[in-house]
Amino acid sequence: MLDNFKLETTTIWSFKDRGNYYTHKGDYPGNWSPYVPRNIILRYSKENDVVLDQFAGSGTTLIECRLLNRIGVGCDVNEVALKMAWERTKCIQSKSKTILLKRDARNLYDIKDSSIDLICTHPPYSNAIKYSEDIEEDISLLEYDKFLNEIVKVASECYRVLKKGKYCALLIGDIRKNGYIKPLGYETLNKFLNQSFKLKEIIIKEQHNCRKTEYWKEISIKNNFYLIAHEYLFVFQK
Ligand SMILES: C[S@@+](CC[C@H](N)C(=O)[O-])C[C@H]1O[C@@H](n2cnc3c(N)ncnc32)[C@H](O)[C@@H]1O
Repeated sequence: MLDNFKLETTTIWSFKDRGNYYTHKGDYPGNWSPYVPRNIILRYSKENDVVLDQFAGSGTTLIECRLLNRIGVGCDVNEVALKMAWERTKCIQSKSKTILLKRDARNLYDIKDSSIDLICTHPPYSNAIKYSEDIEEDISLLEYDKFLNEIVKVASECYRVLKKGKYCALLIGDIRKNGYIKPLGYETLNKFLNQSFKLKEIIIKEQHNCRKTEYWKEISIKNNFYLIAHEYLFVFQK
């Protein structure tokens, strides 16, 4: 599949295939297609750069970092995710190392100021998918307003650890509650702009293969709303 890989050139991205190459499996809830971090890493970093994913999940970004010879730093608050990321990265030959840390994205205390060359990350979408039952630091357990308050801290840490002039790419989507849209993407964008980031790109990513699409299709027709089928990939520059 990778033989056909081409870098994206427009602000609309759509990856129908889940990218099951190397150790990518697409089985972690809400994982992102590896073609997203691959595009970001290739466009905004070079070999041996340090790439941070502070919502690492199953390690999709870190696998790409190994394949592309970038030093990958992955953080998550969930040990199940960290173990999965470790299993999926350890067997891939690379010129660059991978560092996995149990850390809260709101407080990356041992990552130095202006030390990261690229941030490429994919937080939870408020509580659309809950990643744990009771991990205190898990922001996927938070309702919309509380979640947005915590995203301010995430944005602040992103700004602090990134080198000047470098890029932070973040994928996020809107959610629907009781039939109405909660504009999580738009609100998150504003929180990042309040940190003095410059907005380099807004990329619309089409969503495919969502687990509950069939279930929601019927409900959406009955209740007269459209299924959300896109996410936003924001690219910020410090
Ligand atoms: C959308 S998933 C990331 C999926 C990943 N892109 C992949 O392909 O596997 C979001 C992740 O954020 C983690 N998370 C939730 N709260 C966190 C926090 N405060 N700090 C770091 N990670 C957190 C969850 O455990 C989950 O693994």
